Amino acid sequence: MDLIYEVFNADLPRQGPGDNESTKKAFSYLTELPSEPCILDVGCGNGMPTLELARLSNGRILALDNHQPYLDVLNNKIKIMNFSHRITTRNQSMLNMKFDANKFDVIWSEGAAYIYGFEKALEDWQFFLKEKGYLVFSELCWFKEKIPKEIYDYLMSEYPVMKNVEENITLIKSKGLDLIFHFNIPESSWWDNLYIPLEKNIQKLHKKYKNDNETLDQLKLFSLEIEMFRKYSEYYGYTFFIMLHQ
Ligand SMILES: C[S@@+](CC[C@H](N)C(=O)[O-])C[C@H]1O[C@@H](n2cnc3c(N)ncnc32)[C@H](O)[C@@H]1O
Repeated sequence: MDLIYEVFNADLPRQGPGDNESTKKAFSYLTELPSEPCILDVGCGNGMPTLELARLSNGRILALDNHQPYLDVLNNKIKIMNFSHRITTRNQSMLNMKFDANKFDVIWSEGAAYIYGFEKALEDWQFFLKEKGYLVFSELCWFKEKIPKEIYDYLMSEYPVMKNVEENITLIKSKGLDLIFHFNIPESSWWDNLYIPLEKNIQKLHKKYKNDNETLDQLKLFSLEIEMFRKYSEYYGYTFFIMLHQ
């Protein structure tokens, strides 16, 4: 198995930073939804946001990801929580989604639209939205103007198109979308649902690969990501953007 999937395994609470309170807060701005909205969750992982969307709406949700072990865990939870009639999972890449025009009331993507390209997703995915449909993304953003060189160099090498919140707002408006609201997710949602369990995983993998120096070196890179956040979390994080397609 690729090391990344061993580190970010399906047993983590979720695969990206976030929390149910933030999902709920973002959803509260979707005030003009039909009673049973049709929702697409892109890059759903093992589905913490998907399940929260099912609890918050009376809608039907298509949860899409290209890593089957995440979907297996989600499918299990769907069964246990009796959401089988409302959530469908699909193993498919977001890079070649082929849906009809005007299909969804909401396209939701927490921490995953960057894989398609944040800017390109703003452009292309509007095609799948009904008129007055909502696009809701969380995206990694700079929070401050003066950024220490160490974290700037680190994140720009990981994610060269990373922008600050204001630049993303300008981008959103330039794509013809109305920005309804935006907010930053709390620092705690990086630790509680992701980095604390991830650190435990990394420790276990250190033991498993104790005789494999190459893998141990790769594991250090995941620890570095966490260390960077520990040191510089005031400078960056995830921002939710709640947008309306006209
Ligand atoms: C940072 S995680 C976010 C997961 C989830 N939305 C959450 O907030 O917990 C990104 C997700 O995108 C998925 N992903 C990566 N490349 C993809 C692709 N080409 N098509 C669909 N999903 C993809 C990964 O498997 C992973 O579940």
